[in-house]
Amino acid sequence: MIENDMSTFWHWWVVVLTLANIAGIYWLIRWTSKKRPGEVAQGAETGHSWDGLTEYNNPLPRWWLYMFYITIVFALIYLVLYPGLGRFGGLLGWHSGNELNVENSQYQKEMARADARYQPVYTAWAEQDIDSLSRDFDALTTGRRLYLNYCSTCHGSDAGGATGFPSLANGVWQWGGAPAEIKHTLLNGRQANMPGFEQMLGDEGVSNVAQYVLQLAGRSDADAAMAEQGQPQYMTYCSGCHGAEGKGMAMLGAPNLTANAWVYGGSVGAIETTIRQGRAGVMPAFGELLGEDRVHVLSAYVYSLDRD
Ligand code: HEC
Ligand code: HEC
Repeated sequence: MIENDMSTFWHWWVVVLTLANIAGIYWLIRWTSKKRPGEVAQGAETGHSWDGLTEYNNPLPRWWLYMFYITIVFALIYLVLYPGLGRFGGLLGWHSGNELNVENSQYQKEMARADARYQPVYTAWAEQDIDSLSRDFDALTTGRRLYLNYCSTCHGSDAGGATGFPSLANGVWQWGGAPAEIKHTLLNGRQANMPGFEQMLGDEGVSNVAQYVLQLAGRSDADAAMAEQGQPQYMTYCSGCHGAEGKGMAMLGAPNLTANAWVYGGSVGAIETTIRQGRAGVMPAFGELLGEDRVHVLSAYVYSLDRD
């Protein structure tokens, strides 16, 4: 029997209320089917009439009445066999187990059944390299299903991303877009860390460097004079991570600033905020949750997004 942490008070509260309720329903059925003093004979008119419709004193059909009794018997049998009466877990020992990870629960059994069924498929896919797997229709269908379950809340169902969550489909990679790099990202997660430069640069410096970043991105709205002022500061403070040409550095997750594709927004305001305050985006690790074989298939799916 499975213990849970319901207190004694609530245990008896549930037991008494549930049983009293069932007894009450039984009593109500008996009471309403009894003959009452002053009642007209069965089949005769009761004297009630609405808009010319008159009511006869007919009992419920037998089968209908029995249905009520059957539901009561069903409830009692159910409460003996399955959890329902407070802490009493039922004679069958059944447990959904979805929160408690209970031994032999329905959840565990279903997971074991699913593993037995799908594991051979995943094992076969695990032996293929990600590039060829990313052209395998069945693997991509499965990869897409995993993606929609585990990734779409952050990266969008079309993988187009959102502010703070990178697009996975635009061919621009912070942490690298090679199969091994993608798989590394999914298995272990990534933790970006760009410090803020408000103190070092001051307001004017932030604005100038922001204009230089716009220029790196090839944007026509960049202010050339300000960008010229910002350029040496970029070289001092930024090039160590983003590179002298602004192409980024996958090892640090420092984005390519020349791609004009922005995780945190490409407006002057958004870029200045990034420079002022820094950014520290976190991609959670999925290795433990999904296991390496599923991550392998997911990597192939993500890799395929970049290609088309
Ligand atoms: C220590 C390394 C490091 C330094 C130094 C650094 N950055 Fe970054 N930068 C990063 C990382 C890592 C990210 C990604 C942050 C994230 O994803 O949360 C980033 C993100 C950005 C972004 C946001 C890009 C986007 O897609 O929205 C901009 C803009 C940027 N940096 C500009 C600069 C500028 C300008 C400087 C110099 C003042 C600078 N960075 C200095 C590492 C650095
Ligand atoms: C809780 C939100 C969240 C979930 C869920 C999530 N991600 Fe991410 N992911 C992020 C963030 C935020 C980043 C950017 C981290 C950074 O700033 O460097 C990221 C980065 C990535 C990157 C690196 C992109 C690049 O440009 O290098 C890949 C690939 C990726 N995610 C794939 C996935 C996949 C596949 C899943 C599902 C298994 C997933 N993510 C689930 C938030 C999430």
